[in-house]
Amino acid sequence: MEQGKRIMSGMRPTGKLHLGHYFGVLTNWVKLQNDYECFFFVADWHALTTKFDKTDDLQQNCLDVVLDWLAAGIDPEKCVIYVQSQVPQIAQLHVYLSMITPNNWVERDPTLKDLVKMVKTDESNNKPDVSYGFLGYPVLMAADIMMFNVDYVPVGIDQVAHIEIARDIARRFNNIYKVDLFKEAQPKLTQIPLLKGLDGQKMGKSFHNDIKISDDEETTAKKIMQAITDRSRARKDDPGHPDKCEVAFSYWEAFGDKETIETVKAECCAGKRGCVECKRQLACAVNDYLRPLRERRKYYENHIDEVREIIAKGSEKARIEAQKVLEQVQDAVKMYR
Ligand code: TRP
Repeated sequence: MEQGKRIMSGMRPTGKLHLGHYFGVLTNWVKLQNDYECFFFVADWHALTTKFDKTDDLQQNCLDVVLDWLAAGIDPEKCVIYVQSQVPQIAQLHVYLSMITPNNWVERDPTLKDLVKMVKTDESNNKPDVSYGFLGYPVLMAADIMMFNVDYVPVGIDQVAHIEIARDIARRFNNIYKVDLFKEAQPKLTQIPLLKGLDGQKMGKSFHNDIKISDDEETTAKKIMQAITDRSRARKDDPGHPDKCEVAFSYWEAFGDKETIETVKAECCAGKRGCVECKRQLACAVNDYLRPLRERRKYYENHIDEVREIIAKGSEKARIEAQKVLEQVQDAVKMYR
């Protein structure tokens, strides 16, 4: 435990979360909440950078993301949970930061270059229809981070370039206005490997290879029966190769206890465990593991006012913290107030 250190991280409201999010991000957040002061938020303004014209599900998606956090064990007593757009100070800080950020810093952000692929093409010239706000993605992210003057940002490797820009912006602010106001937040890389999709590719909602935290048990079992195993194995009593089993065995490693994993491995290698039976058992193990999470999710779905209350209280706390920093910024820039 690093006493008094602050952490923050966020997710765009993309809808119901899957097991890739759970093992890749949420299990990590759940651990961190015991050791740090944590701020976790739904980045709804960031969603607008690529989907400003597809907002019908935006509110529900924000709720779904928070429902999945609560299901996974994020504890609102330990963490500040908020929605970005409920903290207007972040937008104000973004304005100040946008003034001091050189254009070429955002233009060469490699993560943004990947994100451009999600932007729809402009039919008149066949180029991505990139908006002013989209270019500001990393600047808005810098505002998220600097607003709470955090020490660490737990993220996946794909976000590191953004965090580096945020540090550059923090340093530049301190230099220009000759203050020692902003910390340079460090990324805290998630060590846990992401769980693969059922087809062996990266798990993702748009690839239709994911299992949602909120899926029911039958759906989960059906999906797992489609998971790729050892492609070279022809008959069920041929000796299997757990190391060549593309998906199912890695799920056992995530969901099974040590003893089970050893048994599965030994039986598979000895040709005493067919892939169909193995996956049937795996489906039970996955459903057993997820049952308490799903029950917690169901509870909150049926008490959605409690979830709204959690977000309202978290956002209120966030606004109070943010206002202090914003006033320091206004003074540093020598704004009229
Ligand atoms: N860009 C992040 C993602 O796509 C979400 C995000 C927005 C974020 N602001 C942040 C993450 C600040 C960490 C800190 O996952």
